[in-house]
Amino acid sequence: MDDFSQTISHLKLRVDQELMIATPQIKPQSLYEPIHYFLSIGGKRLRPILMLLAARLTGGKTEDALDAAVAIELLHNFTLVHDDIMDHDHLRRGHATVHTRWDESVAILAGDGLIGLAYRQLLKLPSQRLVTVCRLFTEGVIEVCEGQAFDKEFEVRDDVTLQEYFLMIGKKTGRLITMSTQIGAILGGGDDKEVEILREYGEAIGIAFQIQDDLLDIVEPEEVIGKTFGSDVAAGKKTYLMIKSLELAPAEYRERIRDILRASQVSPEMLLEMQHIFRVTSILDQAAHEIEEAYSRANRVLDRFPRAEATQELRQFTDMLLNRRY
Ligand code: IPE
Ligand code: IPE
Ligand code: MG
Ligand code: MG
Ligand code: MG
Repeated sequence: MDDFSQTISHLKLRVDQELMIATPQIKPQSLYEPIHYFLSIGGKRLRPILMLLAARLTGGKTEDALDAAVAIELLHNFTLVHDDIMDHDHLRRGHATVHTRWDESVAILAGDGLIGLAYRQLLKLPSQRLVTVCRLFTEGVIEVCEGQAFDKEFEVRDDVTLQEYFLMIGKKTGRLITMSTQIGAILGGGDDKEVEILREYGEAIGIAFQIQDDLLDIVEPEEVIGKTFGSDVAAGKKTYLMIKSLELAPAEYRERIRDILRASQVSPEMLLEMQHIFRVTSILDQAAHEIEEAYSRANRVLDRFPRAEATQELRQFTDMLLNRRY
């Protein structure tokens, strides 16, 4: 294993250890068991790892940002548990989602509990940074909810613009990522300029990350992504691919896409047909290009960091994301 991979596994291990401590398996079982289950079935832990890398880059130690890193992962898991109810998804991280394994009431409460646990973890921060970080965190929670609301509103529209899409993903996905870099940089002792540069870096990788998520949904098999194949098409989600194809595909394809979007039941054949349309109209290539573009933009932001040579780890993090398949 190279140095960077070792760093990543070490940070992931630290986060996982603290996550287990933060989520005790006590009573009531119907609250803590699903929480423990969801945190145990996998998860890349990208946001806490990113936060810890940002803290190191700005001169801090892992321990300075560990509580906040655990808090951001708990918050992320809350969004996923509720997102799976909202998106009617039964598979995540290769396992049954919480509302599928138990029921919706259990999943709603597990999500609520996760937010509470996230704030409990955050409140362990030293008092001099607490208000600043807590404010950022809280604004982030609200913005993720706004993003999720746009995501749901867009399901029933077929005239969503790319501009609206970028606003939506900046909130639902980008915000948790910019929170990670900003909070990491603050806790590492970075100055305002460094915090802002890392926010911009987070913004760029957040965009790339969600377009990639949209792409993976329709190109990778379930065994690889650990999520239901084509779930976005089935739900009428206005993904990057869907918006682009509604805008640019030749008229006959556009008609067919609208038919599929209007279908009461989207069959596995229809999903493969959509994949085919995305492929032959080169929408898949355009998405891949947009992803690469956003990741390069992220690295260009790092060129402005005062000690540019110290940004090597984050550039490797960018590469790791670029090459991800799930
Ligand atoms: C999934 O996030 C939700 C999106 C923002 C696309 P991740 O792909 O980071 O999910 P886990 O935590 O690794 O399962
Ligand atoms: C995820 O968007 C955004 C949040 C969970 C806030 P998706 O709905 O695309 O994520 P996946 O594909 O279910 O992981
Ligand atoms: Mg979803
Ligand atoms: Mg969703
Ligand atoms: Mg998705």
